Amino acid sequence: MSEHAETLEIPCAKVDWGTLSHHDLVIGGSGMLAGLCVHLADRGRTVSVVARDRAKLERLAARVQDGPGRIVPWSVDYADATAFRRALTEAINRYGAPCRTICWIHEPRAPNATFEVLPLIHGAFWHILGSGADPEHSVALARWRRRIQQANSEIDYRQILLGFVKLPGNRSRWLSNREISAGVGAALRTSARLTTIGTTQPWSARP
Ligand SMILES: NC(=O)c1ccc[n+]([C@@H]2O[C@H](COP(=O)([O-])OP(=O)(O)OC[C@H]3O[C@@H](n4cnc5c(N)ncnc54)[C@H](OP(=O)(O)O)[C@@H]3O)[C@@H](O)[C@H]2O)c1
Repeated sequence: MSEHAETLEIPCAKVDWGTLSHHDLVIGGSGMLAGLCVHLADRGRTVSVVARDRAKLERLAARVQDGPGRIVPWSVDYADATAFRRALTEAINRYGAPCRTICWIHEPRAPNATFEVLPLIHGAFWHILGSGADPEHSVALARWRRRIQQANSEIDYRQILLGFVKLPGNRSRWLSNREISAGVGAALRTSARLTTIGTTQPWSARP
């Protein structure tokens, strides 16, 4: 490992560390998670990033220069199950099974996409969920946990819930891209099963 390489502690209790690669997979990584992808690559990781817009992906990959790590763009629509599976399989064949998968999928538009990923991975699976997924932190999050672990009981499943920021004077705003990338980066260093970035409480105070 290069002296610049990733030394984050990533607790993945069920995983044999001896078999893990330096490969991270970020699905939906070229928007609000772009800063996270660059951060990981700057720390020596090979970061496979899935999104549709090839030019945007290539601009993102170009932000990592001279580092020990890199961003590898995978331009594919995750709603196209065959193409998505093919791209993931190629990424894994090339760089090894990802140690961490960070998944930001617009579930209503691609309800099966998350389940295409699960048979192909092991290690930690960070599932990012929008604020509306479960403002009361209860039913929907538990349901996701059950469904994901039924599909792959070997992965170390973690949830990250995007919240909002309360401001003085009963005002609030949504999180910025920078806050989301930084919040996910911080979550990767913890063993928390659920991390909320910002707050979702009270839900009535959302912007
Ligand atoms: N609670 C909150 O505060 C909160 C929650 C959500 C979002 N936001 C904010 O709202 C903004 C917009 O959010 P967003 O949902 O558009 O997220 P985004 O992360 O900016 O964009 C979605 C990501 O997923 C990719 N993607 C989307 N559909 C895809 C598909 N079918 N196949 C493959 N990749 C796909 C996009 O790339 P391509 O378009 O190139 O495919 C992009 O990389 C964000 O920038 C964020 O700051 C805030």
